This record gives sequence, C-alpha cells and structure tokens, in this order.
Amino acid sequence: MGKEGAKISALDVKDLIKDLNKAYADEWLAHFSYLHMSRTVTGAGYEDMKEFLEDTAKDEAEHAGELVDRILELGGEPLVNMMELEKNANAPYPKPPKDTTDYKKIIKTVLDAEAGAIDVYNKIAAKTQGKDHVTYQLVCHILGEEVGHEEKFEDLLE
Ligand SMILES: [Fe+2]
Ligand SMILES: [Fe+2]
Repeated sequence: MGKEGAKISALDVKDLIKDLNKAYADEWLAHFSYLHMSRTVTGAGYEDMKEFLEDTAKDEAEHAGELVDRILELGGEPLVNMMELEKNANAPYPKPPKDTTDYKKIIKTVLDAEAGAIDVYNKIAAKTQGKDHVTYQLVCHILGEEVGHEEKFEDLLE
C-alpha cells in the first residue's frame, strides 16, 4: 500500500487482511460449489435452477477478485494454496447434496452459505466503518449482493 493509503487506514491492517483472506476463501468455496451444482443439477425444470446457480457462482468469483485487489492494496498476500482454502475459510465447504434433483437441499446449501457470508461481511463492515472507507465501501457492495442472493434463493422455496 502507498504511504498515504497506509496513513488513512486507522485499523490494525494485519488483522483486516486476515479477515479479507478468510472471506476470500469462503468466496472460492461457494463459487466451486455453486458452479458444480449448476453443472450437475437435473430433474423437471432444472434450467432455471442451473441459471440461478451459474449466475451466483459468477458473482462469488467476482467477489473473490475484488477481495484480492483490496488485500494487495493493503500490502497483504492473498491466499495462494488452494489446498488451504477450507482451513482458512469462515465456514466449511458448502457441500452439494448427492441427489442432484433435490432442489430443496440445493437451495438450503446455498442459503446456509449466503447466511454465513452476510454475517461475515456485516462484521467487516462494522469494523471498517469510519476507519477504512475503501474497504468499507467494498464490503458493503459485496454484502448487498449476498443479501440479493439470499432473497433470490429464498423466493425459490415459495
Ligand atoms: Fe460472495
Ligand atoms: Fe453469495
């Protein structure tokens, strides 16, 4: 991070980088899980579910990219070892259900992961509010999209 950039952050930057790296790991796990489910889902009317999962998986990959940019700006190192993703994540891998026709279970897998993400970004937002405007703005943007994901999948249950 540049000198002025470092000066304006009134937070423990190391601690913040750790939080962002954990969220980064969550994003990759969600991306992998959702993309996998989008490719394997079957059953009546599977096309809509496939599209929802695929779109959401893309968003999660985008979030991962945005987090890497911020981690680098802060002078941190984004997690490099894929084998360590789950160990460094906030939550376990959102494991896709065995039954690829079980929409309820697929939706529950997504909703659990989204609830976790909402909680994580809400906490980082509270921590950075008024202290690190750049990170705050980023996590609020991501948080808004996670809330949108939750709503989209909750609606599918109706
Ligand atoms: Fe995300
Ligand atoms: Fe999400």
